[in-house]
Amino acid sequence: MTVPLPTVECWDEVDSTNRIAAEWLRVGCLHGRALRARRQTAGRGRLGRSWMASPDSGLTLSVVLAGPEWLALAPRIPLAAGVACADLLRARYDLPVGLKWPNDLVVGSRKCGGILCEGVTTAGRFAGVVIGIGININADEAALGEELAGRATSLFLETGRNEADLDGLASSIRDAVVAAAEAVSTSPAEHLLARWAALDSIRGRQVWFGEGDGATSGIAEGIAPDGGLLVQTADGLLTLHAGEVTTQPPSDPR
Ligand code: BTN
Repeated sequence: MTVPLPTVECWDEVDSTNRIAAEWLRVGCLHGRALRARRQTAGRGRLGRSWMASPDSGLTLSVVLAGPEWLALAPRIPLAAGVACADLLRARYDLPVGLKWPNDLVVGSRKCGGILCEGVTTAGRFAGVVIGIGININADEAALGEELAGRATSLFLETGRNEADLDGLASSIRDAVVAAAEAVSTSPAEHLLARWAALDSIRGRQVWFGEGDGATSGIAEGIAPDGGLLVQTADGLLTLHAGEVTTQPPSDPR
């Protein structure tokens, strides 16, 4: 029997939905429990960055995958979550949302969302995974801010449509992400990699990675079986497992 997932909670203001969801996991909570926040004051992004979203214009959502069994599946969870979010947004907004390695949701070369998956341990035990999802929904250019001009977009800017039902959207995304994560254990890895590849927005493009004098460029050649990014450089084919790539030289990253 399939147990129905709990209602997605909506909190007015939190520091980080991922932090709260991790706390839930540490004390024990239902699989699939999720919260969204209207305002997030210390949203976490990848690579130690912060995630900024103006109040009510974005979706900030965290979903819990509870249980130690998620440890073995953890490397594939971000890929599955990315595919689930992109597919859902494509269908709901009739918009060509793609993925930029490792886990950005993009329209063209502009980022409209990001995903941060965090494993949670308690007393030396793996308690589960938190999938944190931030999507720019109703933000206009002013709400996105000057700093992100040209690099970020929102579903509103792309479609002209204002999403009135953020609770419904959060619930649909939570259901899709949980289903995609559960499918990771039952369907072949090749299936997930093929779905990711179909959404890959940078394959065949020149990308830059590394910092300062060590910055290198190459051609993105798609996703490796272990979830890394294949890049053909002058020195050979590399697989990147961490960090990020840009499609503009480091002096003008976007
Ligand atoms: C990225 O850097 O692209 C990932 C951003 C993830 C942001 C989301 S917003 C909801 C959840 N709570 C957080 O603190 N971070 C994630």
